[in-house]
Amino acid sequence: MARPKIALIGAGQIGGTLAHLIGLKELGDVVLFDVVEGVPDGKALDLAESSPVSGFDAKLVGTSAYAGIKGADVCIVTAGVPRKPGMSRDDLLEINLKVMEQVGAGIKKYAPKAFVICITNPLDAMVWALQKFSGMPRDMVVGMAGVLDSARLRHFIASEFDVSVEDVSAFVLGGHGDTMVPLAQYTTVAGIPLPDLVKMGWTTKKRVDEIFQRTRDGGAEIVNLLKTGSAFYAPAASAVAMAESYLKDKKRVLPCAACLKGEYGVKDRYIGVPVVIGAKGIERIIEVNLAKPERQMFEKSVAAVDGLIEACQRIVPALG
Ligand code: APR
Repeated sequence: MARPKIALIGAGQIGGTLAHLIGLKELGDVVLFDVVEGVPDGKALDLAESSPVSGFDAKLVGTSAYAGIKGADVCIVTAGVPRKPGMSRDDLLEINLKVMEQVGAGIKKYAPKAFVICITNPLDAMVWALQKFSGMPRDMVVGMAGVLDSARLRHFIASEFDVSVEDVSAFVLGGHGDTMVPLAQYTTVAGIPLPDLVKMGWTTKKRVDEIFQRTRDGGAEIVNLLKTGSAFYAPAASAVAMAESYLKDKKRVLPCAACLKGEYGVKDRYIGVPVVIGAKGIERIIEVNLAKPERQMFEKSVAAVDGLIEACQRIVPALG
């Protein structure tokens, strides 16, 4: 059987890391696309030359023409600009919205059957706009944020308790910004919820609140250290987990930005919630119980995403 074709729209820091991970995991052949000519070709060739050493078989090519993504099974979108110190994700909105318009048209024309994963920030607004610009089914267009935010939380919790990251699971829902909502009840160590671990004396409520805040600030922490761009290893790994679940029909339960159709009292908005990803794309949206303070935080997060959507509609009225 032919290998799946995976198109990476944007061959920057995350795009290059995605291509490497996809090669190492032998998930498929890779097309790297970028508007900067030469960069996607150079990265593809460099990675192809690593394949005999690492021992993976994959065709890796670069292109600056949308025709190169023709027939892709999966498109992962990182095209746009990342933030610099002092910027919020929302500061990227205007410039990245224009990029989503071009990318949406390219995918619509050449890869209309693909499963599309958007990473470009501000995520919840960009994935919403990309779905509209591309006209693709909502269940086939998803945003990567929750897997990353939850991975940051899992890492911090595992370090705090000195246990394996494998035994920590976590859900961070809501928008991918300052208003994201870490859920204590659904954050567990080997199935033991965080509030129980506090009762068992493993940690304190104060410490948990500090870890939650560090999670919310996780992206900014990396931006401030790197100074020239934003995180790329963990975002790439997170999107690969989502692509793998689709390609292998694994039906993993992952927190992702999905277009809600009334779940959580939200309609026609992309927001981070737990979903099942399988061969049909987003196969199920899971509506978990939120305690009152978490529900209030979630509603605040939805309101923040609404503000971004309104900003998009002001810039491109046709998105209304
Ligand atoms: N079409 C295709 N590619 C584009 C376009 C466009 N219209 N505009 C910019 N690009 C390319 C850039 O040339 C660059 O190679 O997108 C790439 C982005 O890569 P980086 O600048 O390295 O940014 P990266 O760290 O990969 O982050 C990409 O993901 O997490 C988000 O906030 C982050 O929005 C940012 C995106």
